[in-house]
Amino acid sequence: MNFPIDKFAHTQTPFYFYDIELLRQTLGEVSHMAEHYDFAVHFAVKANANPRILDEVRSYGLGIDCVSGNEVRAALEHGFDPKKIVYAGVGKADWEINLALDADIECFNVESIPEMEVINELAMAKGKVADIALRINPNVDAHTHQYITTGLEENKFGIGLWEVEAAAAKARELSNINLVGVHFHIGSQITDMGAFQALCTRINGLLRWFEEQKYLISVVNVGGGLGIDYEHPDEVPMPDFKAYFETFAKHLELRDGQKVHFELGRSLVAQCGSLITRVLYVKKGQKKQFAIVDAGMNDLIRPALYHAYHKIENISSSAPVEKYDVVGPVCESSDCFGKEVVLAGAKRGDLIAIRSAGAYGEVMSSRYNLRPFAESRFSE
Ligand code: LLP
Repeated sequence: MNFPIDKFAHTQTPFYFYDIELLRQTLGEVSHMAEHYDFAVHFAVKANANPRILDEVRSYGLGIDCVSGNEVRAALEHGFDPKKIVYAGVGKADWEINLALDADIECFNVESIPEMEVINELAMAKGKVADIALRINPNVDAHTHQYITTGLEENKFGIGLWEVEAAAAKARELSNINLVGVHFHIGSQITDMGAFQALCTRINGLLRWFEEQKYLISVVNVGGGLGIDYEHPDEVPMPDFKAYFETFAKHLELRDGQKVHFELGRSLVAQCGSLITRVLYVKKGQKKQFAIVDAGMNDLIRPALYHAYHKIENISSSAPVEKYDVVGPVCESSDCFGKEVVLAGAKRGDLIAIRSAGAYGEVMSSRYNLRPFAESRFSE
């Protein structure tokens, strides 16, 4: 990526930098491919809720996948059509459900029978009927990091396969909810299409069962999870949406009138964002040296929380490369963006780009150590 370094020279660091052109290319590509297959895409706003990013996403006609009342509110405030808002989450509070009911959102992705009963009750009090999808835990291994696997029986998410029959019967019985779909999400940062194929196989069995039991399922929401290339952000700035959609087009056995929905987060926004930070000090130890930068784990927690890899570059220097542990100022040993990172020789004031940080970066930041939130800047 060509960073506008001159523009950065007098900018307060750290900040998130978003390449709007790459974002548009990615949104354009995903919209084009989805249209080709007649699939609907909802952006998983948990990945990035920056107002500018949301405006760009909306302009491509995508829907929104939310996991909290405030995410539903943010989607509404940014002009998303309520009929394109879906809402999942194992712990929806009453005020959150009410907010979504008042907005007449497209669909609640319901994660348990008790939740279904509460939605029914709250909808009844408003004289409404809420469309719901059963979020079913398909017990499919996504072969990804343990903290971002969601579709295994041991995870808290969704209705277990053993409970689907009871949940569907309950939905039929309750008067103020309307079962319209099924929903799945097996995990995040998935690069093996085989995992999605296994999901399709599981879904096919379930769709057969719903048909036999005379439930009318019109929405098949397969969640998100498509991974990106953290190692090669410049060479592979966009995931292979075609191969991804093709996997579902080929392996899902749909009935007439069934529409496939996706909830993509990371794959749409990760590569367009970088965390830009300055070197404060280069500290030489006996065995290693540290590049101490002014961004910390509060600004980007993924390396500390998941041992996630982000490519790190010194964008100010063309000096011969050296190895550094790139660390932040926060009082935790885990405040480290990368160990033994090969960087162009670093000195105080150099700008460092931590790449592929557009998803689950800014949105997961905190004010730990009472540090301020990083601001955001845009290429245009
Ligand atoms: N749908 C549901 C129900 C989800 O739980 C998620 C992500 C998505 C869609 C979007 O998944 P994506 O397309 O972004 O993989 N903070 C972690 C990732 C957590 C993902 C949570 N759920 C990270 O930084 O890697």
